[in-house]
This record gives sequence, C-alpha cells and structure tokens, in this order.
Amino acid sequence: MTCVAAIVALAGCKSMSPQDRLTVNDKKINEIIAQMSLEEKVEMLHSKTNMSSEGVPRLGIQDIKYTDGPFGIREENGDGFRSLGWTLDSATYFPTGSALAATWSKEMARKNGWAMGKEGRLRGKDIILGPAINIQRLPVGGRTYEYLSEDPVLAARLSVEYTIGSQDAGTAVCLKHYALNNQETNRGSVDVIADERTMREIYLKPFEAAVKEGGAMCVMPAYNKVNGYYCSENAHLNNEILRDEWGFKGMTVSDWGGTHSTMGAALGGLCVQMTGDNYFGQALIDSVRNGALDESVIDAKVREILRLRFAIEPVPEDVANTIMTSQPETQQVAYEIAQKSIVLLKNDKGNLPISDEVKKIAVIGQNAVLTTAAGGIGAGVKTLYEVTPLEGIRKRAAEAGVEVVYAPGYKNYVMRMAWGRFGGGPVDPLVANSTDESADPALLAEAVALAKDADMVIFFGGTNKSIETEGSDRKNIDLPCGQNEVIKALHEANPNVTTVLISGGPTDLRALEPYSPAIVQGWWNGLEGGTALAEVLFGDIAPSGKLPFTFPRKLEDSPAYATGSFPGNNTGEDLFTLMYRLDATGYTREQIQEYIANLPAPVSEYREGIFVGYRWFEAKDVPVMYAFGHGLSYVDFEYGALSCRKKKGMIQVSLDITNLGDMEADEVVQLYVSRPDTKIERPVKELEAFERVTLKAGETKNVTLEFPVSELAHWDMETNGWTVEPGKVQILVGAASDDIRQTIETEIR
Ligand code: BGC
Repeated sequence: MTCVAAIVALAGCKSMSPQDRLTVNDKKINEIIAQMSLEEKVEMLHSKTNMSSEGVPRLGIQDIKYTDGPFGIREENGDGFRSLGWTLDSATYFPTGSALAATWSKEMARKNGWAMGKEGRLRGKDIILGPAINIQRLPVGGRTYEYLSEDPVLAARLSVEYTIGSQDAGTAVCLKHYALNNQETNRGSVDVIADERTMREIYLKPFEAAVKEGGAMCVMPAYNKVNGYYCSENAHLNNEILRDEWGFKGMTVSDWGGTHSTMGAALGGLCVQMTGDNYFGQALIDSVRNGALDESVIDAKVREILRLRFAIEPVPEDVANTIMTSQPETQQVAYEIAQKSIVLLKNDKGNLPISDEVKKIAVIGQNAVLTTAAGGIGAGVKTLYEVTPLEGIRKRAAEAGVEVVYAPGYKNYVMRMAWGRFGGGPVDPLVANSTDESADPALLAEAVALAKDADMVIFFGGTNKSIETEGSDRKNIDLPCGQNEVIKALHEANPNVTTVLISGGPTDLRALEPYSPAIVQGWWNGLEGGTALAEVLFGDIAPSGKLPFTFPRKLEDSPAYATGSFPGNNTGEDLFTLMYRLDATGYTREQIQEYIANLPAPVSEYREGIFVGYRWFEAKDVPVMYAFGHGLSYVDFEYGALSCRKKKGMIQVSLDITNLGDMEADEVVQLYVSRPDTKIERPVKELEAFERVTLKAGETKNVTLEFPVSELAHWDMETNGWTVEPGKVQILVGAASDDIRQTIETEIR
C-alpha cells in the first residue's frame, strides 16, 4: 500500500520496514521545516527542561517529553532531579534488566515494553529512556543489573520485543547507551578501544536488532568515547552505522551531560543536546550564520525529531496524570516476569521446595527486608508498593501454618558521597562503614540463635543498590558486610540452609557455596518480587529462570580482568554526579566545570575482543561457578533427538521436550552453534536461538527453534563486512551452555 502524506498513523504502513514507516509524514514535515526560522529549528535541538525538548509552538507542534526507564516510569521531577511530590505518579517497579533477561522470554520482554509504554502514556510521556541494552562486559559493572546479558543474541531478541511492546502502546523507546558503555568508572571520559569485529558481533548487535527489527524511534549516544570520539559526536557510530547501514530514521539524544561540542556533535550525528544549550543553542545558530555549518544539517535533525513527534501522539495536558501511573494490569506483567526470572542455581539435597515437615523458618539477612525500587540514580522507581522477600514469605507461610522468624544477620552498606556535606560515618547501628566490614558479633549471635531453633534457614545475601549503581563500578564481586562469616555460622547452627541472592549482577560464591546446599538467584525483582519468590520457595511454581551471564569463580578469571584491560588506568570519577549533584559535592558550577575539563582521559582497551562472558571461559577452559544459561527446575526434562532443515534462509531445528516431573514447569531450550572446521578465530560455541516452553506434568511438546543463516556471519576485518563462512555447522541444543543434550550437524555451502 502507499502511505499518503498527511499525518499518517504508522500502523497503516505494515508493508514498509519499521524504520521506513517513520518517513511516511516526510512531505508534511518538509513543508513545516520550510516555514521555520533557524532559531525555531535550533530551539528543538536542546533541552527545554531536564526531561523535555521544544516542539514548534507557533505551528502547534508539541514539546517532546522524556522519562527515565527502563524498569519504571520515573516520578515527576520538574526541571531537575528532585521529586515534585506528586501523588498520582507512583509507577510499577518492574524487575530490573538482568532479571527480565533471566526469563529468556520474548513474550515477557514484549509485555514489559508494552506495560512501560502504557504507563508512559498515563504520565503524558513521549519517550522512555530505555531499554538499556549494553552488553554486560564486567561482573563489577555498576549498571550490569540494568543491562540484559553478556550475550548479544539474548540481549538482541529481548530488546526487539521490548521496543515493539512499548511503541505499540504508544510511547517511543530510546535505546541506551549507544555504544560500548560497559563501565561506570570514568564513563564520562573513558575512550573505549575496540576493533570493528568486536563491535559488530558483540556490542552493537542488540542495537542493530532493536533498530532494524524493532523500529526503535530514538537512540541515546552514550557518555564515553569509542575509538577516539565521544559517542555524541561519533560519525562512524551515528551516521555510517546507525543511519546509513541500519537505516535508522529517528532521532538521537545525548546522555544527560554527554554532549561535548557544537560542530563535532552537529556533524557527528546528534539531534538533541541533553541537557543545556551551550553547544546546540546560540553556538549552532552562529555556526550556520558564519557559514561553518550548512543549514541542511540542522534541517535533517529537525526532520528526524518531527518523524518521532508525528509517530507518537502527544497526550493532552488534561488527560495525562489523571489516574495513578501503576495499574493492576501493568503490575500483573511485573509479577509474571518475576515468576519466570528466579534462577535455582543449586539444589543438591533437594531442600527446595520447602517440605511439609518444615514448621518454622528462620529468615536471616537484611536483603530480606530492604526495598529495591529506589536508588541506583537514573533507574530508581517511585513504586506504588513493593512486596519484600520477607513479606512474601510471611504471607505464604501463614497460609501453610508455618512460623517465620527474622533477624538482620549483617549490617547493610549505604553509599555516602565521598565529599561534601553528605560525608561522615553511619549513625544507624545496622549500617556498615564499608562493604568489607566483618560480621557484627551481636547480629551474628542473634541470627545463629534463631537458626538453631528453626527447621530451616533461608539466608538472604547479595548486594544492594548502593553497591551496584549507576555512577560507579563495584571494587570486587565479594559478598559484602561479612555475609560469608554469617552463612558459615548459620550452617554450623542448622545445616538446612537455603541462600537467596538479592543482587543484579554476579557475586563471588566460593566461600558461601559449601555452606549452602540450595542457592537461588532472586534479583531485584520488581514490586511483586517477594510474592513470586515465595511461590518458588514453597513449590507453588517451579523455578524457570536461566542465568543471562556467567557467575565466574573469581573476578580475576573474567575476561577484562584476565587481560588486564580493566580497571587499567581508570581512576573513577563520575561526570553525571559531578554535574548534577552540586548539592552533594558542595562545589560551584564553575569549579566543577574546571574539574571536569581536567579529568584524566583513561582508555579501556577491549583486549578480549569477541571473547566476552562464556565465550571467554569456554575458549580458555576456565572453570566457572555457574555457567551462562544455567538454571535448575523442580522437575527433569528429557530432550529428544534433533531434526534440522533449511527453509527460506532459515535454519529450523525441532525436538521433543518432555516434562518428567509431577508438576507443571517451564524449560528454556537453548540452541548454540559451533563451527568445527572454521578458518577464523571463533568462540567454542555461540547462542543463536532459544524458546521457553510450558509443560504440564508428564507432557511432551515439539519445540522448533529457528534462526536466519545470515546470523552465522562473522565480521570480516579484511572486507570490512559480514561474511558467512561455508562449512560444517554443529548445532547444540540443551538446558544451559554447559549442559548440551543433543547435537546435529548441517552444512553451509
Ligand atoms: C543516565 C541515563 C539516564 C539519564 C537521565 C544519565 O545519567 O546515564 O541512563 O537516562 O541520566 O536520567
């Protein structure tokens, strides 16, 4: 069909590619641009408030309103980062990125995007600043919990679905942080050095898929530099790859404070400076007037912004914010994701599910009672409510007539600003001075006494949102605040110990593991996290999450550490905190600006190349604690023989999966590919496809996994393009990267 040049609804142009659909209003948009003054155009290219940019008021074109995601629509902050104290802006707190990814569910990612988009509309927002889809390169990464996976295919598939879901609900996504924003340490100045193959095969994959297949309308260039250029002025990333190769037709908006020049950013593919107008305000007008910059460059940016503006219906002022942001149907989505995300890492003695014989449970650990919605800077959520793990357990235990007692067990660590008026030591006796403070004797004694007197101990360990946070990376992945001492003492008191880890990223479990026959990864799991966890522990549902990243045995084993490329000369100053938290630093803006100008210019060389996550551990034969894709159930699954066929450029692999247990359970079937006679350096195997399947007790289902042959391509550094290498393709299907059950071979000629 042809799309007429009025303001056309995008849904009506299904035969076009998702990006081309954005261009259906171009004729009208060009007419508008022709009527605009240079000043009006430039007014659109920088922030109006902290979370908006200007439309064209004279022509009745509305401002663009942004909101932080990715796991909750941020509360109203006005022109800054301080809450306005509204009453209707409490949102749904969704499970964080790694938890969503642990579902390995395209359906859940689509629903998550949809629910976020829905709440975005209720709040009158046009763009969600999310999903955050960088690759989890560092186990210590402050935003590892926001990001999805160490694997580009898992991250890509979920990013596409989130994007479609949100945009179907009427709110655009803004994919962030483009690109190679894999560390918080010096994120505002670090120069990431990565070769083209590494970028294409690993780090850019989720962005490429969400742009091309998902039709993402907005992309956020990141704070860091890539191969010498800030992302906001990186013509290779923004113009050559994003626009020319992937066909992106939407707009780009710099990360907050991530614009660094006028001409560089103007020519390097940035549309909107966030925040401020020192580069994309008068300086841009002057650059055009003095002939340095052609006005057509400005026009192209305005066109890209207007495409989004016309694709996304503005919510009228009197409609937005009239009902509570969080609604039962969106809360239900958060709940379903949480149910599917919980990973059973270990269940050696069958301690889980909790047996009927257990009449008294000792819940130990502050992570059982701490809420996790707020904190972590940009990704914090003012949630409507949050069921903590202890609340979830208490409620479910009461139904079963089981007594629950609780003790904090260890102190909590709460981040304090290193400088300025928020400094000083803790005042709360339950707050530690540092993450490596040893166990508190009184708290330990109290916990041990409860453990002795209970039938079962559930120890809640892990990190918290002061430890894993935007703005800084963890120093290590150790369990903080003496947790290892606590678990050992608990186990001596009562060997029936189950550990639940509440964290977003991996932790070092070497010391804990011998004392905990069952271990569960419980994540930061949204406002119904405690309910879902209790259902898994009590066996109402079977656990079905799978790890989206590797748990290394020790940090030093992981690729960036093993190759000595992190922390390198990264000393750690956070640009964002410096710029936006003058209140916390106590400095003036001028002092901070001078400070930023003199920040060191560290380099992060991605020496491990494409060998990120399990690709590294497998290639180097380094043992891990828990492998990528690992996750147990309360039932066993039988994997039948594989059949494989090629059809219309797709490889399709089918098999029967049988639930051998006596309860309904989900399994995530994973398909990896290995190239036995390859001539190039490749990982041992790489994920290509996955499917989540629900099986009743004893049920068998036939599952088909498919992927395009083109996905087998590698980036050829000599031809500077994608190439599919002919030869044998070994297809490995299993329950985890280290649990392959069936194989079959095919050939690419
Ligand atoms: C973060 C972004 C966020 C933005 C606005 C930045 O510091 O990196 O992820 O969207 O702030 O809050």
